[in-house]
Amino acid sequence: MRPLIVFLACCLAAVSAAARNTTGRSFSSEFFFGAATASYQIEGAWDVDGKGWSIWDYLARTDPDHVADSSNGDIAANSYYMYRRDIEMLKELGVTHYRFSISWPRILPYGRANYVNQRGVNHYNEFIDELIANGITPFATMYHWDLPQNLQELGGWLNEEIVDWFGDYARILYQNFGDRVKHWLTINEPYVHCNLAYGYSMHAPRIHSPGIGYYECGRHILLANARAYHIYDNEFRSVQGGKLGIVISSEYVFPASDSEEDIEATRDYFEFHLGQYMNPIFSETGNYPQVMIDRVAAASLSQGYNSSRLRGFSEEQIEYIKGTADFLGLNHYSTRIIYRNSSVIGMFEIPSHEDDTYAASFQNEFWPASQAPWIREYGPGLYHLLVHIKDTYNNPLVYITENGVSTTAGLNDYNRVSYYRSYLNAVLDAIAEGCDVQGYFAWSLMDNFEWALGYTQRFGLYEVDFGDPERTRTPRKSALVYKEIVRSRTIDYDYDPDPYASNAYASSAWLLSIVFAIVNVLIQL
Ligand code: GAL
Repeated sequence: MRPLIVFLACCLAAVSAAARNTTGRSFSSEFFFGAATASYQIEGAWDVDGKGWSIWDYLARTDPDHVADSSNGDIAANSYYMYRRDIEMLKELGVTHYRFSISWPRILPYGRANYVNQRGVNHYNEFIDELIANGITPFATMYHWDLPQNLQELGGWLNEEIVDWFGDYARILYQNFGDRVKHWLTINEPYVHCNLAYGYSMHAPRIHSPGIGYYECGRHILLANARAYHIYDNEFRSVQGGKLGIVISSEYVFPASDSEEDIEATRDYFEFHLGQYMNPIFSETGNYPQVMIDRVAAASLSQGYNSSRLRGFSEEQIEYIKGTADFLGLNHYSTRIIYRNSSVIGMFEIPSHEDDTYAASFQNEFWPASQAPWIREYGPGLYHLLVHIKDTYNNPLVYITENGVSTTAGLNDYNRVSYYRSYLNAVLDAIAEGCDVQGYFAWSLMDNFEWALGYTQRFGLYEVDFGDPERTRTPRKSALVYKEIVRSRTIDYDYDPDPYASNAYASSAWLLSIVFAIVNVLIQL
C-alpha cells in the first residue's frame, strides 16, 4: 500500500503546487517579516557578568558527549558580544522584526526572584535599545529551554511550583523591559520541550518519562503561561499596552489512506499534539481535548495506575488557562503522513504519549530531504495547517514564529531557497483563504547550536564560521533571496543571486574603503 500512497501524495503535491500560482500576488504592507534566534543557541558568554547555570550549561559540563559533535553553547555564535552585527544583519535583510529569547539565568542566576542580576538586565536593556534605535521591533521569548539549573534541582517543569517561579520571572521582565517590548512570547514549544527533555531524555535535563513526565511538564507550562498572562493583565497591560502569546509547534498531518482508521488516527494525532496545547487556551470550552482525557485515563487504568497519567485541571484552572494568549506564535517545519493498524500496537514504549496517541507516521520520500532527519520540504502543509487552525480555533491571530530548514555548510543553499519560497507561497495561500496570519519569522537569522545535534545542523540565513574566533557571519544565497522577497513583497522564482559574488564585492568594498581612508590621511598630512 505504501508505494501507492507515496505516489498519490506526490501527485497531490504536484497538483497543489501547480494550482498555487504566485504570479501577481504579494504580501500586504501590514504583513511583517523577521528572523528568529534563541539565547542558548547563539549568545555564548555562558558564565559572564553574573549569569547562573542553565540546564544546558549543566549538561555541557556533566554529559558533554551526549551532544552529536560533543559541542556546547559556551561560545556559540558569540551574540552576547556581537549583537550589533546581528542587528546589522537584520537591517541588511530589510526585515523589521526580531524574535530573540531572554536567558532566565542571566536575569535570575538562581532562578528565583530574590536576586536579580543587574548586569544581565543591563545587557538586554542595551540590546533592546539598539534594536529599537535601528527600527527593529522586538518579539521577546521569555523561555526558550534554558531553565536555571537551580530550579531543575527542585524538579524543573515537573514541580507545580514552577508556575509561581515563572510568574515571578515574567513580572521582572515586564518591569525592566515592558516599556519597550510590546510583544511577549511566554514559552517556546511545550510539546517539543516536554517530549525531548522530560519524555525521551534527549535534551537537558535528560529525564526519561514519556508517559508521565511529559504530561506533567505540559500541564505546568499551560499553567505558567496563564500565570504570566494574568500578571500582565492585572499589573501591566493598562500601562504598557503590549500583547502576549505562547509559541506552539505543529506539523501538518494527513491520513495515509481514506480508511476510517487512518482518518481517525490523524484526528487523534492532531489532538494529542497541537490540541493538547491549543484546546486549553484557544478553544471555547478550554481544557484538554476530550479524546486525550478519555484515552489516557483508560490506558492508565488498564496499566494499573490509580489515576490518569494525564492529571486533569479543576474547573477553576480550566477558566484560568482559557484565553491566555492574544495571539498564537506558530512554529512549523514539516508534514507527516499518519496511519493506524495492528502494527502500531506495541510500536512505542509503554506508557508513553506516543502509545496513548496510538498512531504512527512517516514522510513522503519524494519530498526534498534536508540535513535534519525530521524535515522534508512540503510547503502546502503549512497552508493546510493554517487553515486547520483557522477552522478549529476560530481564526486566531497568528504570527509564524519559526519556519526553516537545515543544510550543510556553504553559501549556495539551494534547498533553503526552495524551502522558503514554497512555505512563503503557502502563507500567501492561507491569507487568501482568510487565515489571520500577520507576520513571519525565518528560523534562523544565523547558524547556531542545534541542541543535541550541536553544530551539525545549519539553519542560518547567515553562515557562521564557528572555527573563527570572530564568528564571522556571511549571507547565504537564501539571505539574498529572502531580502528580495522582503523588499518586493513577492516571490520571484527566477531570482538567483550569487552569494559569493556579493560577498567578494563586500570584501573588495571593504578593502577599497581602507585604501581611501589611508589616502585621506596621507592627503591631510
Ligand atoms: C525548534 C526550536 C528551535 C530550533 C528549531 C530547529 O523546535 O524551537 O530552537 O532548534 O527547532 O530545529
